[in-house]
Amino acid sequence: MTKEPKFYHPLPEVIQNATVQEYDKTYQKSISNPEAFWGEQAGNLDWYKKWDQVFDGGDKPFFKWYTGAKTNIIHNAIDRHLKTANRNKLAFMWEGEPGDKRQFSYHDLDNEVSKFANVLKSMGVKQGEIVTIYMPQIPELVFAMLACAKIGAVHSVVYGGFSSEALAGRIQDANSRFLITADGGYRRGKKTDLKSISNAAMLESPSIEACVTVKRTGDDVHMQEGRDFWYHDLVCLPISRGQCETVEMDSEDTLFLLYTSGSTGKPKALVHTHGGYGVYVSTTLRMVFDIKPQDRFWCAADPGWITGHSYIVYGPLILGATVMLYEGAPNFPFPNRWWDMIERYKINILYTSPTAIRGLMRFGENWPKKHDLSSLRLLGSVGEPINPEAWKWYFEHIGQGRCPIMDTWWQTETGGFVITPLPITPLKPGSASKPFFGNEVGVVDEEGNDSKPNEEGSLVIKTPSPGMARTILGDPERYIQTYWKKYEKQGWYHVGDSARKDDDGYYWIIGRSDDVIKVSGYRLGTAEVESALVSHPSVSEAATIALPHEVKGNAIHAYVILRANEKPSEELEVHLKDHVGKVMGPIAKPETLTFVDGLPKTRSGKIMRRVLKARALGQDEGDLSTLED
Ligand code: WTA
Repeated sequence: MTKEPKFYHPLPEVIQNATVQEYDKTYQKSISNPEAFWGEQAGNLDWYKKWDQVFDGGDKPFFKWYTGAKTNIIHNAIDRHLKTANRNKLAFMWEGEPGDKRQFSYHDLDNEVSKFANVLKSMGVKQGEIVTIYMPQIPELVFAMLACAKIGAVHSVVYGGFSSEALAGRIQDANSRFLITADGGYRRGKKTDLKSISNAAMLESPSIEACVTVKRTGDDVHMQEGRDFWYHDLVCLPISRGQCETVEMDSEDTLFLLYTSGSTGKPKALVHTHGGYGVYVSTTLRMVFDIKPQDRFWCAADPGWITGHSYIVYGPLILGATVMLYEGAPNFPFPNRWWDMIERYKINILYTSPTAIRGLMRFGENWPKKHDLSSLRLLGSVGEPINPEAWKWYFEHIGQGRCPIMDTWWQTETGGFVITPLPITPLKPGSASKPFFGNEVGVVDEEGNDSKPNEEGSLVIKTPSPGMARTILGDPERYIQTYWKKYEKQGWYHVGDSARKDDDGYYWIIGRSDDVIKVSGYRLGTAEVESALVSHPSVSEAATIALPHEVKGNAIHAYVILRANEKPSEELEVHLKDHVGKVMGPIAKPETLTFVDGLPKTRSGKIMRRVLKARALGQDEGDLSTLED
């Protein structure tokens, strides 16, 4: 057997063409004077009015960036391209799962966004108000997001796989008056019924005044007179005509909310801004994925999650890039769908998740082998740790040993990449390598002392950056408690991941250290799944844990105590799993569900999930001194 190389070195031609040619010195400079670094990066964007101050750290941890500046992310993502050759360049290439295609130049994109922005304005959408969007992966999803931003409204995109209850909860929390949805979409050859789900959610949401529906599948749907409007009707009305002016915003004004799961309670809405977020996503994308004018970039995430917001929509558009958007499943109708699309569109950069790679890997390398993948130059991974086996398969069979893999570590909270290789970085399969410029990170113990090399500890971010979420909507105290309390003395951001740093200074993310579970890269909270279970009349108590899963990374395992008069049965087990699917969405369905008579608890009544996990894995249960009995 050949010995494993310590590093996978990028090829000389990759290094030669890289935007960033040097890491160590630039990194040192960026952290010794982050304001200079972020000031310089902001200079790559256009502003209506430049900032008075790059960074305002006065009101810790509510940091502000580019204070005094006037901008709108649309000014950079669309408007400025209309004055250059980019105007006629493709912004989006879209393919539906059934194979239908649509393409939009920056000029077309401006037209579409302007039309819909005019419609929203005439419906009475005001600057600063929150519009909820619940859609399949179709171009109108992007138009809707951008139209909101253009008129200074705040978008809150809810992932199209969530249930009506989850959607209703988010509409209510945001107090949205307007919902934008579609009749459905295509996934694995089936149609999803988004409009019925939206209708059910609207019944529970008294704040809703109007709903715009895009016709995608053409299925019969219920439209309520006076509340429901078809998108295609509205954008043909005279009110949609004429260029809609982009509203001048403060740099710190809210661009969007994105709900994400935490260790406790309901999902929280993280707040991102026009100014700092725009600088952060475009800088990270330009330097890490090295986008050249002739490139075709494919981030195969759902625009409904942070990865899609940052690296399908805002980052690429600010850079004037050409982006691929695909509606459906990677293995429909066959497991070569992606490889076929890479060949047909001559994609240069593919950015996806370990779970997608592992899922496609199962079908073997004959599927990619049949396709010409020679256009690929760079690959990327995000969402969970990529196991070395999947890394090597991706590297060898998709990148054909030629394309370095950018394993980017970040979170909804950070807005963009925090730990990531650059195309020039020697790679170690499974390590996200080193911090991006302007970010100081560390692996520490409970007290904040540096962990020894290779020792597991808690990941912290020591410096604020312009892309970081500013707060949690309506609950600044929760923002402090969740992220800034644990290392308050040091002023560090508590990530919630455990990690190690090796002798070469490379970071290895181990996984979540709190009660957040990453299932197929989707972020869910044990507390949410438990409360979904307990909402069923047969259930008295529930606990959920994550156990390793070959494709999904992690899977949810549930332990349920039934009410006194209920008897365990296989039927009830299936029924309860479906119940979770109905309350939260199919991704949250537990893999297994075990009926138990009791749960391990501390004397103060907290469920000891770590004990359940150790038992399930047949491992040592550790310190049981706080166990109740
Ligand atoms: C995990 C997704 C290892 C991590 C952008 C983090 C990763 C959580 C990686 C955030 C990676 C993301 N390697 N783990 N490259 N990227 N994670 O908010 O646990 O959906 O805390 O953002 O995903 O998930 P979120």
